[in-house]
Amino acid sequence: MRRNRNGGARPARGAPPPLGRRAAPPCPLYPDVRRGLSLVVLGLALAGAATAADEVPVKERLADGSAERGRAAFLVCRACHTIDQGAAHTIGPNLWGVVGREVASAEGYDRYTPAMSSYGGVWSPERLDRYLREPMAQVEGTTMVFPGVADARERADLVAWLNRNSPAPLDLGGGRAGGTQARTEASPPAPPRDLGLFVAGEGAVETHAYCTACHSERIVAQQGLARSGWDELLAQMVEEHEMTPIEEPDRARVLDYLAAHYGPERPNFPRH
Ligand code: HEC
Ligand code: HEC
Repeated sequence: MRRNRNGGARPARGAPPPLGRRAAPPCPLYPDVRRGLSLVVLGLALAGAATAADEVPVKERLADGSAERGRAAFLVCRACHTIDQGAAHTIGPNLWGVVGREVASAEGYDRYTPAMSSYGGVWSPERLDRYLREPMAQVEGTTMVFPGVADARERADLVAWLNRNSPAPLDLGGGRAGGTQARTEASPPAPPRDLGLFVAGEGAVETHAYCTACHSERIVAQQGLARSGWDELLAQMVEEHEMTPIEEPDRARVLDYLAAHYGPERPNFPRH
């Protein structure tokens, strides 16, 4: 689709595949035109993405978040964030204790953008929910180049997981300290993830989550490498592109998956 909103700032033909879902920079056109376009774009983004959970009031939805499901949903964040207490900052700040913390205040992280710093205030659960829905629209100019999490329940799960990883978890609802522990067993499993071009198999979910944080899975699926080649490529993502190293046992699972399905024979090369 050609939607040249930014006056020729598009990458030239033949440039490497776009970094997936990077948002277009702000439009220099008149505000009205811009608003109209944004609505179109927003409408496109939301078509099919909105879920029944969107209808539920935010407080109730957040009270229903499951930290356990959130742990799984957080995989995609781990390309750029650590969450354990005291863990190093990577591309993004360490997120231990972020719920209830002042925005842009992680100690020792010196790469906050002016946009994020001037967003100001405190990361309340509601604000996190809004931010995670559309980071680049909420904080225009943020370097968190991430399209956001469209699924409302998944956002509630993420907030629950962030809240659990805190020295002082907030009460997210129903008087349950720490929010969601009591609910964990009762929560229904998350729906199966859309793996895009990736074929199903052991480790597919993790691989998709880790590798689509910065680009589409297509550029991964087009490769054909032996396990050692994938091993080197992962090291390259860390060294050259600042991917947060994937910890074991996940790393081995990702390598096994890639080697099994995207090996030198290219059995699953995307044909479309
Ligand atoms: C592609 C890398 C990337 C991904 C993926 C990513 N983030 Fe970020 N995140 C960043 C960067 C960089 C910043 C700092 C942004 C700035 O200063 O503008 C940030 C900032 C944040 C902040 C604000 C922290 C503070 O101290 O104020 C939160 C909260 C956050 N991210 C949560 C998440 C969650 C949850 C996910 C997964 C759903 C996620 N991020 C995925 C890179 C990323
Ligand atoms: C923190 C961001 C980030 C993450 C996470 C990430 N990559 Fe990349 N990757 C890049 C960038 C940046 C490029 C180069 C730009 C491009 O080609 O789009 C790239 C390029 C690639 C390429 C193209 C070949 C090359 O050498 O340029 C492959 C294959 C690839 N990545 C595989 C992976 C796999 C597999 C994963 C998951 C384990 C992954 N990437 C996760 C940032 C990332």
